[in-house]
This record gives sequence, structure tokens and C-alpha cells, in this order.
Amino acid sequence: MTEPPANPAPKALAEPVVRFDSVGMRYGRGPEILRDITFDLPRGSFQFLTGPSGAGKTTLLRLIYMARKPSRGLISHFGGDSASLSRRELPHVRRRIGMVFQDFRMLSHLNVFENVALPLRVAGRKRAEYAEDVAELISWVGLGDKMDAQPATLSGGEQQRVAIARAIVGQPELLVADEPTGNVDPAMGRRLLRLFTELNKLGTTVLIATHDITLVRALDVPILTLADGRLSVKGTRAA
Ligand SMILES: Nc1ncnc2c1ncn2[C@@H]1O[C@H](COP(=O)(O)OP(=O)(O)OP(=O)(O)O)[C@@H](O)[C@H]1O
Ligand SMILES: [Mg+2]
Repeated sequence: MTEPPANPAPKALAEPVVRFDSVGMRYGRGPEILRDITFDLPRGSFQFLTGPSGAGKTTLLRLIYMARKPSRGLISHFGGDSASLSRRELPHVRRRIGMVFQDFRMLSHLNVFENVALPLRVAGRKRAEYAEDVAELISWVGLGDKMDAQPATLSGGEQQRVAIARAIVGQPELLVADEPTGNVDPAMGRRLLRLFTELNKLGTTVLIATHDITLVRALDVPILTLADGRLSVKGTRAA
């Protein structure tokens, strides 16, 4: 007797969240920072992105977030070619992505609570619906006593945690984080990593750019490495 074929996954689920096909990237007339980058972020995956300073990690994340366009090659998001997105469509696709920027990008005129709640407000949710969840998340990242603080009065590590909370509060389909533990102590780094793995269990695809070797070793997940403009993949920490 032969096994019945497994049900093929529905197309939308089988499609990678992000696909790079022979992507090259240069700034202006400068040298090519990324060359012939081809890879997928499969739906539901968790991966790290490493490489020396200046290798192009942030550049690659900017392409994923559509903050920049590639100089050549194709990038697709959620199954659609990004180059064909109109100005009107772009924010909608971007809203499906939670981004932790290396330089945080807090809105200076909003307090911690309002910064974290911003993606929910933009999505049209009512404060009464989300206030409790937002407060809980802020407490989880250790900032329960700083809800009303202005970003300028926070330390680097505190701002970083606000940036992380803001990126994950809406349970995005994709979370992209640029050095998210670069400014916190090891114990807080582990706590933040748990936040990312929990989010991943709920279905969010996660990509974390980091130099933090302890962080990378904490999980048995694929590691994408950038060097000399090219990307290679190591299977797991064991590889
Ligand atoms: N806006 C820009 N204009 C011109 N060159 C840039 C720009 N941003 C980055 N670069 C150059 O691209 C290269 C890759 O930079 P990128 O910030 O992507 O590296 P990175 O891997 O994130 O480094 P780090 O680990 O230090 O954050 C560097 O040589 C940098 O000087
Ligand atoms: Mg960087």
C-alpha cells in the first residue's frame, strides 16, 4: 500500500515571504555592496543574518523593507514583484513587516506608550482595544515604569526595547531586526530573543541581523552570512 500524497500547501502559504533573485545593490555610483544575492525567507522560518561590519547587512534589510530599490535583480514580497508596487500600495505591504532599525527611529514627540502603539493606531485600531496589550508588552521588555517617558530621556538600550516592542506589537507577518540586542545586557538579550521565538511560534517569519555570537548560538536555526557582497547559508549552528 502506498501512502496518499500529502495535501499540497495552498499557494499563498507555500510562497516565500521574501524572495531575492540575483539582486545587486550599490549606492549611487559606488561599488556594488551586494552581488548576485539569491535566497528565500520561507513562511514561518527563523533565520539569522551575520557578517562583518560594513558587509551589507543593513543594506539587505533596507531592501527587504523597501526603503531602497535594488540596482539589479528581482525582489518579491508575499508573492508579488516589489518593483511593480505603486506608491499607494507600498505602505500596505510595508505594514505587514515589523522593522527594528539599527538606529531605533523613535518618534521624538510621542512617549513610549504612544511609540509602541503607533502601528496599531495607524491600522485603525481603537485605544481601548489595545491599551492593555501594549502596556503588558512594554512591561515585558522591562519598561513598565517608563510608559510616559519621552524617547530623548531614555538610554540606548531602553530605546532599543521600545523599537522592538513597536515592531512586534501588531504581530506582523515578517519581523526584520537590525542588531536588536546591540545595546542591552546579556540577560535582556536572552529575554528579547524569547520574544522573537514566541512571535515566530505564532507564525511570524523572523530575520535577525546580528554580530552577537551568543545570540546566534542560542538557537539551532539557519545562519545567512554576508561577505564580499555575497550571501552563504549555513544549515545550523552545528554545521
Ligand atoms: N546611504 C549610504 N550611502 C552610501 N554608502 C552606504 C550607505 N549606507 C551604507 N553604505 C555603505 O555600504 C556598505 C554596507 O553598509 P551596511 O550598513 O549595509 O553594513 P552592515 O553590514 O550593516 O554594517 P554594521 O555591522 O556596521 O552595521 C558600507 O561600506 C557602507 O559604507
Ligand atoms: Mg548594519
